Amino acid sequence: MTHTSIEPTVTFLRERFTRAPHAILVLGSGLGGLADEIEDAVRVPFDDIPGFPRRTQALAGHAGQLVAGRMEGVEVVAMQGRFHLYEGWKPSDVALPVRALASLGARSMLLTNAAGGIRPGFVPGDLMLIADHLNLMFQNPLIGETFPGETRFPDMSDPYDAGFRRAAEEVARELKIPVTQGVYAGLLGPTYETPAEVRMLGRLGADAVGMSTVPEVIVARAIGVKCLGISCITNLAAGLSGQALSHDEVMEVGAQVRERLVALVRGVLPRIAPLNLASEAAS
Ligand code: HPA
Repeated sequence: MTHTSIEPTVTFLRERFTRAPHAILVLGSGLGGLADEIEDAVRVPFDDIPGFPRRTQALAGHAGQLVAGRMEGVEVVAMQGRFHLYEGWKPSDVALPVRALASLGARSMLLTNAAGGIRPGFVPGDLMLIADHLNLMFQNPLIGETFPGETRFPDMSDPYDAGFRRAAEEVARELKIPVTQGVYAGLLGPTYETPAEVRMLGRLGADAVGMSTVPEVIVARAIGVKCLGISCITNLAAGLSGQALSHDEVMEVGAQVRERLVALVRGVLPRIAPLNLASEAAS
């Protein structure tokens, strides 16, 4: 099996973006508004990018574009919307944007997602720094030929960088934004979980559950890109609140925490992508 070259994607993006990104931002359901805060923004729709999966239906809440520019002095490229396995994409499709943006120079990645809260005490609107994950998608974007620059058997003992998490906790304390740390269980979806599955996940050590993030982080770690993950607890996981789950609720709570999340991301960005991590200009 041969892998698909990412060269056309990288060449195209290098022409569009005048500066090399320091950090990749991956913005989840209802949280994409963060990209509107990027200065000197260059926007490129996913559908225009060679090699990117061609989308036939846009999911509400996922704009589907790259937004490059500056945030707090840090060169960022945001994925406003992302590719999910439940949409039918292959794990290697989900991996492509991370591989391409890392090739442009990014060495840090900050991901946000919407997640159901499992840990007792969580309420909708809580923010959880992802300390570790459970890959319950039972798929892996690294299966197949090893890409140049990636390791065959990547170490996953620090998937979400401990230093980045400490920095995020410090910023949160300074800004008086309550955050906690916990384990994110990544499931395929698109169904939300059953109450029995949620009880199982709790016993397996999960504090929150969602349908994203895990494939991107696996690829990032294979390349050596350091990750910070922030889950927005948009709802209590199935069976914990007595209410049915809905995508509308997920989007609504995402919008409500926007202000806190933007403040946290702005505060933490310069600490996880300091200038000494910056690479040379893309050209
Ligand atoms: N389960 C899975 N994914 C989710 C949830 C959930 O409860 N909430 C937001 N994304």
